[in-house]
Amino acid sequence: MSSAESSSQEHAKRVKPREDVVRISTGVKELDEALEGGIPKGSWVAVTGEPGTGKSILCMHFAWAGLEAGDPVVYVTTEAEFRDVVRQARQLGMDFETHSILDISSSWEPQKPPEIVVVDVFGLLKVARQLSEEQEHEGGRRYAALDVQTLVAAVREAYRVLGVLREGGRGVARHVRLVVDSVSAFWADKPAMARKYSYDLKVSLHRENVTAYLVSQYAMTTRSTFGFGLEHIADGVFHLWMEDVERTREVVRYVIVKKMRMTDHYRKAFRLHIEPGRGVRLVPE
Ligand SMILES: Nc1ncnc2c1ncn2[C@@H]1O[C@H](COP(=O)(O)OP(=O)(O)O)[C@@H](O)[C@H]1O
Ligand SMILES: [Mg+2]
Repeated sequence: MSSAESSSQEHAKRVKPREDVVRISTGVKELDEALEGGIPKGSWVAVTGEPGTGKSILCMHFAWAGLEAGDPVVYVTTEAEFRDVVRQARQLGMDFETHSILDISSSWEPQKPPEIVVVDVFGLLKVARQLSEEQEHEGGRRYAALDVQTLVAAVREAYRVLGVLREGGRGVARHVRLVVDSVSAFWADKPAMARKYSYDLKVSLHRENVTAYLVSQYAMTTRSTFGFGLEHIADGVFHLWMEDVERTREVVRYVIVKKMRMTDHYRKAFRLHIEPGRGVRLVPE
């Protein structure tokens, strides 16, 4: 065992989890250990990084851990159709199709709440159309699939379908996992608005019983996000990066917990490996 490895395990042992904080598994064992057992429930976690660093796969692990724990999942995917998410996840040992999936673009209302509600570009288009029709009477605006308001309406619809967010109702609402891969898509053409849009999103969609992953893409050239805004409103930031491939002539990925409220955390980078049949495996640097 390398000294880095032992020091990360010692860190995990030394820190006693705070008992008032409920922990949500990331689906990656080493990452949970780096966070005193997991992400504090209700956190909004920004997942940032360049293309190919493993952001989408980290989202799949988070969703999968939820399904295994009996948590419903709202999965927004703007980068790929959900069908491709399913195929990618299956290669890494996670078979989403063993759970009930409802695509928000279908008009079918299931008898009982599904385990996964999918919002992809088609679902967003449908919601945008509905919003535009509602506004038409008032001579109002037209919505686009990639508007922040469309995203908010789509996720709220997913919350409704899941029936787990009885506002003001009695009983304990179930824990829900929300994945938005990516949020950058919603403000790619207006980077200056990133901070305001991030804030609007959190105000509209944050709930005590919703823990969220929000993917934000880094522009490779400038190494800055499409509008640095999400990280300010996020409770946590997982940052992923890759060494310069022209220098290393190899894909060498890293992840670091840059920030996480309500918890102590390991503060060094991990090497991030993506392995067939297993997915992400982290090794302390
Ligand atoms: N079945 C697999 N086995 C090993 N590595 C894989 C497999 N599928 C994908 N990968 C790796 O994952 C990378 C994509 O990760 P992804 O999470 O989509 O990146 P990002 O979302 O940050 O752009 C691919 O470039 C590839 O290196
Ligand atoms: Mg991706």
